[in-house]
Amino acid sequence: MRSDILKLLTDSKGYISGEEISGKLGISRAAVWKNIKQLKEDGGVVEAQTNRGYRLVSLPDILKPEYVGCYTARDMGNVTWLQSVDSTNDEAKRQAREGEPGGAIFVAETQFGGKGRLGRKWESAPGDSVMLSFLLRPDIRPQQAPAFNIAAALGIVRGIERVCGISAGIKWPNDVVYDGKKLCGILTEMTSDMDTVEYVVCGMGTNVNQASFPEEIAHKATSLRIETGERVDRLRLCAAYIECVEEIFAMYMERGMGAIMAEYRERSAILGSEVRVLGLKQEYSGICRGFDEDGGLIVECEDGRRVFNAGEVSVRGVNGYV
Ligand code: BTN
Repeated sequence: MRSDILKLLTDSKGYISGEEISGKLGISRAAVWKNIKQLKEDGGVVEAQTNRGYRLVSLPDILKPEYVGCYTARDMGNVTWLQSVDSTNDEAKRQAREGEPGGAIFVAETQFGGKGRLGRKWESAPGDSVMLSFLLRPDIRPQQAPAFNIAAALGIVRGIERVCGISAGIKWPNDVVYDGKKLCGILTEMTSDMDTVEYVVCGMGTNVNQASFPEEIAHKATSLRIETGERVDRLRLCAAYIECVEEIFAMYMERGMGAIMAEYRERSAILGSEVRVLGLKQEYSGICRGFDEDGGLIVECEDGRRVFNAGEVSVRGVNGYV
């Protein structure tokens, strides 16, 4: 689907004729018709009337860049949409190995090998989520990569606020939560040698339009639809995520951790609370006192302050998930 045709359709208040579209864009009427057909096949609703032309009633609920692009002025040239993929993070890494430049984004409708933190699986029913990965080639030291976890979580929270009007929190390092349940998970992966980062892939999956969750996870998982009481426009959300996450990544790259930590603290769902930190072999508990320069978690344990690294531990509340 050509985005310039979409733009004419979305800009025109009422009907726009095939002739006008073809004249304005210098393409044949047949090409216009072919594109309208594609739009309908994707699930868009277009009214067609003899002598009046076409009227776009609604866009498809598919995260192709041309549709997401209707809600952002950002050029969507480096956004790749995949109907189905093992994992958007894995796709981003494959493309990175092939030389894809930093800044590329991979969005999927379905994942059949979705990955979570600490080797867990990430399951998501097709069409209900927004899943995307950012490929970055930042000039940073490997120890700084966790900052992208922090930055991504902030971007997601801002995007949710913009589109849904609700203020979600962040459970360190980067689970986005609402009312004690998880809305979005983020997985940041990196390829580097001892002192140079080759690339970072930061992938996020949000529960958007799920009406309910299986009993085993219903106590700790929620969706934007459950929390707002209405279906959420995934196109708007995806566009807001791209804008907000890129904005915070840029803030971090230009001005460092100091530029994003104040907001991260404000949005934290655990700062000042008692937490349990689950390591592979040991469990610690104490009060969350803050976060260090590299995005580590500072906990006041009985035997003193400890700093935990995001790659090694999970955090729980004393009585449950948060
Ligand atoms: C977690 O909460 O453990 C992290 C979940 C991250 C899921 C997203 S979905 C898009 C991207 N692709 C993946 O395979 N994982 C991330």
